[in-house]
Amino acid sequence: MSVGPAAKVEKHPSVRSAERIDVGGRVILPGFVDSHTHLIHAASRAEEYELRIEGASYEEIAKRGGGILNSVKKLRAATEVQLKNRALAALQEFASHGTTTVEAKSGYGLNVAGELKILRLHRDLSTEQPVEIVSTFLGAHVVASEFRGKPDGTARYIKVLLEQMLPEVASENLAEFCDVFCDRGAFTREQSRKILSEAKLHGLSPRLHAEQLSRTGATQLAVELGAASCDHLEQVNDADIQALAKSNTVATLLPGCDFHLGWKQYAPARKLIEAGAIVALATDYNPGTSPTVSMPMILSVACTQLRLTPAEAIAAATINAAYSLNRADRLGSLENGKQADFAVFEVDDYREIPYYFGMNRCWMAVKHGEIIQIRD
Ligand code: NIG
Ligand code: FE
Repeated sequence: MSVGPAAKVEKHPSVRSAERIDVGGRVILPGFVDSHTHLIHAASRAEEYELRIEGASYEEIAKRGGGILNSVKKLRAATEVQLKNRALAALQEFASHGTTTVEAKSGYGLNVAGELKILRLHRDLSTEQPVEIVSTFLGAHVVASEFRGKPDGTARYIKVLLEQMLPEVASENLAEFCDVFCDRGAFTREQSRKILSEAKLHGLSPRLHAEQLSRTGATQLAVELGAASCDHLEQVNDADIQALAKSNTVATLLPGCDFHLGWKQYAPARKLIEAGAIVALATDYNPGTSPTVSMPMILSVACTQLRLTPAEAIAAATINAAYSLNRADRLGSLENGKQADFAVFEVDDYREIPYYFGMNRCWMAVKHGEIIQIRD
């Protein structure tokens, strides 16, 4: 792409064959890069939403076999066609909110067949619709129900993950990243280290779900392993913030979770930014903690609750997120030579994008120079 005054842009060699679009004074941003989603799942968990409103906590529901395991049961029972149709509809919704790239995690299969079913859908969807999908293997979301309460159940599940799932994922080239939910009720720091170190040997770069429900030291592990990103971070301490600030590991904040779960404690975004950490924002689109595809809504929450300025929030949702997906050389900003991924908003001022909340002002989305969504 070429960016700048018309006289300069019109010198670009491809201009003769280009179509002229007048955006009529609207605001153009780089397409949002949503660097944390659980795209493939079978159904909502609205029943748990109501239970939480009535007083049950997210962790209590999970302990009773709800939560992630509820989504695993539903995913295993769903056909590929059902899963694909749900994801296709969601991807169109992502684009209609200005998102042109999404990272997508497995993690609702938790057996070889289920995890491969999700990751192969990432691959198929990448070629069948225009939103770019970056695939992440999250076999270590939680321990599958069939291993729970059994002697050495967790160790045996990890063995399946390391000896059966990971080699298959790597040999079919189904994921660029490996993620682990390192938290209370999921995996410990040592288990996470083992899984991510092995994943690195298979060519998958680490990411981590870190310090969401409790502080486990996952952030320091992410920095130590040179992870691309560590995500959530509600429970980080000052040492964690300093470690992130000195590293190239992106601090990806997911305030949609805190909003949806009704938590009062958001991640310390200002402290992270002021310490010099690279902060990204993502939706965490998933049926348990953040059922939204709307990056504009995430920007509203980030500005109002985490006190990011609108410009900081936009940078976090574009270039910093692209960096966490190893795509900052191609995506995430409007610069000469980069790919033409952008979103056009029906506003007079870019600050109105977070200012209006729960409203979608995206008018057009363009991926790799092609219009993929336009509002009539
Ligand atoms: O990012 N924390 C772990 N994973 C998801 C929640 C998944 C679920 O509840 O289904 C998250 O919040
Ligand atoms: Fe997540």
